[in-house]
Amino acid sequence: MCVLVMVQLGLWSAQSLTLMGHNRRQFELSRKLLKQQIERVMEKRVAQASQEPVTTWIGYRTFVVADVVQEATDIVSVYLRPEDGKAIPAFAPGQHLTLKLPVPGQANPIVRCYSLSSAPLPDVYRVTVKAITIPLPQSSETEPKQFHHGLASHFINRSMCAGDRIEVKAPAGKFILDETSKLPVVLLAGGIGITPMISILQRLRETDNGRMALLLYGVGNSAERVFYSTIKELTDATPNLHAIHCFSRPLKTDVINQNFHVQGTVSIDLLKQMLPNNHCQFYLCGPPAFMASIHQGLVQWQVPPDRIFYEAFGQASIGKTKTASVKTSATIAAQHDQLAPVTFKKSNLTVPWSANHDSLLELAEASEIFPDSGCRAGSCGTCETALLRGNVTYPQGEAVDCSPGTCLLCLAKPNGTIEIDL
Ligand SMILES: Cc1cc2nc3c(=O)[nH]c(=O)nc-3n(C[C@H](O)[C@H](O)[C@H](O)COP(=O)(O)OP(=O)(O)OC[C@H]3O[C@@H](n4cnc5c(N)ncnc54)[C@H](O)[C@@H]3O)c2cc1C
Ligand code: FES
Repeated sequence: MCVLVMVQLGLWSAQSLTLMGHNRRQFELSRKLLKQQIERVMEKRVAQASQEPVTTWIGYRTFVVADVVQEATDIVSVYLRPEDGKAIPAFAPGQHLTLKLPVPGQANPIVRCYSLSSAPLPDVYRVTVKAITIPLPQSSETEPKQFHHGLASHFINRSMCAGDRIEVKAPAGKFILDETSKLPVVLLAGGIGITPMISILQRLRETDNGRMALLLYGVGNSAERVFYSTIKELTDATPNLHAIHCFSRPLKTDVINQNFHVQGTVSIDLLKQMLPNNHCQFYLCGPPAFMASIHQGLVQWQVPPDRIFYEAFGQASIGKTKTASVKTSATIAAQHDQLAPVTFKKSNLTVPWSANHDSLLELAEASEIFPDSGCRAGSCGTCETALLRGNVTYPQGEAVDCSPGTCLLCLAKPNGTIEIDL
């Protein structure tokens, strides 16, 4: 009996073990199938997502700093990834982002614009920021020199690190490569004005349609230059892209025709030496003095206004003359009463409007009033100011986003007599 039980138990155990083994195999098989099914669903979703058009966003969206990379003395690149992990839209070469920055010691976040400094990347944006330091006027020669350290640019260079969260507006701006034209492209960059040019150059490399392009890049010396290897890679890989590096203060280690080409600044004379004629599109970005002199030189060289594109990184620097005025025309001038007075209430100042200005912001700056501004293109909202009396007009087709009773100074022109809260 006992033997019988033992045999049965043995048989049962053997059966159970076989069954257990069979069940485990079944289980493993089902697990594998399930895994494959999940993978197939995920692949399908990824494929669908990559086909879905990525739309832009309205207002601010939270981004996380993915990396901060030192490019040169006082210049860093910041890589920004959306916190929600969703796709980000591509942008036109030359456009910028508007950032809202929590600068310590400031009552409100500081809003500043920074050009996108690369071609569109899959899930990250890159901007490149120079920490600006401006000497303050001295009341006497004996007084120690004092400096203004740019609020946002110093915060980004000195304090920003991976993991920080900031608010970002979608890519915007009208300083973009005109891809409808076949004319040669001349990119004129002074200092940190190189940032939008990199994204433009990368776009020209990408399209590689034989369109000629020349970059003239002016900096002090190799310690201040950024993206040298990127520019070299792009020009080496594309026969129709060329770059000339100009150093105004070369270091002892800088050797002409080795790591730079011209000792001096980017100037209109240099441009005339390089180009056979002025039948090109000119794109300018750099410090105020650079912008003013190049723009004036181009106008004197009879370059038509619609072939000059520029991005001012700070207050208006291009002195407008009747011929130099890029956007004003006889028609627009006729629409605006040139002598209509504009009153800046807080500043207790009334000045006549003039069609030489493109916006109320330019008129204010020309009158030594410096309201806050960011993009200077109607996208960041920084210059929104209460309109106390009268009406303003905006360029045709411009989608203006501001509260009732206010105006965007960077776009607005007076429509008759007005009073603004400035
Ligand atoms: C479309 C666009 C794209 C841009 N792209 C780039 C880019 O790619 N890279 C980049 O580095 N910058 C770029 N800029 C410039 C950038 O937006 C900021 O203007 C710059 O970083 C300086 O900001 P900040 O807060 O550091 O300086 P701020 O503190 O605002 O000082 C800036 C200016 O204000 C004046 N100022 C303010 N306070 C004082 C004071 N107490 N005393 C004296 N002067 C004072 C100075 O004239 C000074 O030039 C861009 C600007 C625009 C509009
Ligand atoms: S400065 Fe950005 S909206 Fe006017």
